[in-house]
Amino acid sequence: LKEIHVALGARSYSIYISRNLIQKISELLPSDGKKALITTANIYELYGERVSASIENYEVLLVPDGEEAKQINVVEEVVGELIDSKLDRKSTLIALGGGSVGDLSGFIASIYLRGINLVQIPTTLLAMVDSSIGGKNAINHLKGKNLIGSFYQPKMVLIDPIFLETLSELEIRSGLAEVIKYGIISDPYLFELLESREPWGLSENDMIEIITRCASIKAHYVEQDENDCKGIRAALNLGHTLGHAIETLSGHVVKHGEGVALGILMACIIARRDLLLSDLDYHRIWDLVEKYELPTKIPFLDHSEIIEVMHRDKKAEKGLVRFILPTGIGRTPITKSVNNELLIKVLEELS
Ligand SMILES: NC(=O)c1ccc[n+]([C@@H]2O[C@H](COP(=O)([O-])OP(=O)(O)OC[C@H]3O[C@@H](n4cnc5c(N)ncnc54)[C@H](O)[C@@H]3O)[C@@H](O)[C@H]2O)c1
Ligand SMILES: [Zn+2]
Repeated sequence: LKEIHVALGARSYSIYISRNLIQKISELLPSDGKKALITTANIYELYGERVSASIENYEVLLVPDGEEAKQINVVEEVVGELIDSKLDRKSTLIALGGGSVGDLSGFIASIYLRGINLVQIPTTLLAMVDSSIGGKNAINHLKGKNLIGSFYQPKMVLIDPIFLETLSELEIRSGLAEVIKYGIISDPYLFELLESREPWGLSENDMIEIITRCASIKAHYVEQDENDCKGIRAALNLGHTLGHAIETLSGHVVKHGEGVALGILMACIIARRDLLLSDLDYHRIWDLVEKYELPTKIPFLDHSEIIEVMHRDKKAEKGLVRFILPTGIGRTPITKSVNNELLIKVLEELS
């Protein structure tokens, strides 16, 4: 059992990583208080039995799959069910699923009765390395992704690589985009690990190593800048400004990680133009994105709409879009505001 501590004073918690952790959930959960599990029908079908064998007496709340879960009407429905099930402030909400279930559940845990206990059990690679850690929770608005949300830390995160066995290649790829991001912003060894393996030759031990490294990096950033207001945690947004815009405009047909991959490439193009990023690192990043079959071309979308959505992003300010730009593999990126003229040029280069 690997344990990563997230030191946040009274809000500190642990991330546990181990194969078959799913069978030991009850040993780690608080023993008192009611429990409700939020998940989707497909995940419950795959893992419900094993979870039931490990947790006693819990309510199951099924929510829509994917981004459909991250809607205000779903929040209202789930809260209604929590009220009916008489969950109180000592109760625990368990999120079993990918980033969408995690985001929805985290948001609900933060607002129901002004906050109840939350446990994250991520089932996608993306959720294991990123979304289940750090307390950012958000649902979508018609006008954009993640515009309604809260900061609310879980009580613990339980990561079991066994869930990856049923995950589609597309979802694995999507998660690997975030892993590449971590390699670029702070872990050259992680980047080399991905470079050294065959595209689909990552063993379970590799995966545990990857998840552990990413979770540690995420924990480290979160510890230094819990509410993303010091500009430190912003580094984790590498690739996300364009990524979110593409996700939104494609109606979420483009997966989060696919959007992030394109966003990373966009940031690399800008950074290379500004001589922040060497040709060598630029090509290594580009090659790795291609190797893991992540997109290198923006799907057919209107560029002015992409720019408009990027301006609506939380990170935008005064007519400029703020970008996280890589300065090298394994090196801290910088933040820079970019004007529309350059954005248009780079979007064309990526299309
Ligand atoms: N809060 C954060 O810090 C943060 C960070 C990154 C991403 N996110 C959010 O996370 C969401 C994306 O998360 P995601 O990529 O995990 O997608 P997802 O939650 O939509 O899951 C992707 C698909 O995989 C299925 N699935 C999940 N686990 C499975 C398993 N073990 N086996 C088989 N199928 C499984 C799901 O049912 C779904 O169809 C986005 O909404 C994004 O905004 C949040
Ligand atoms: Zn992300």
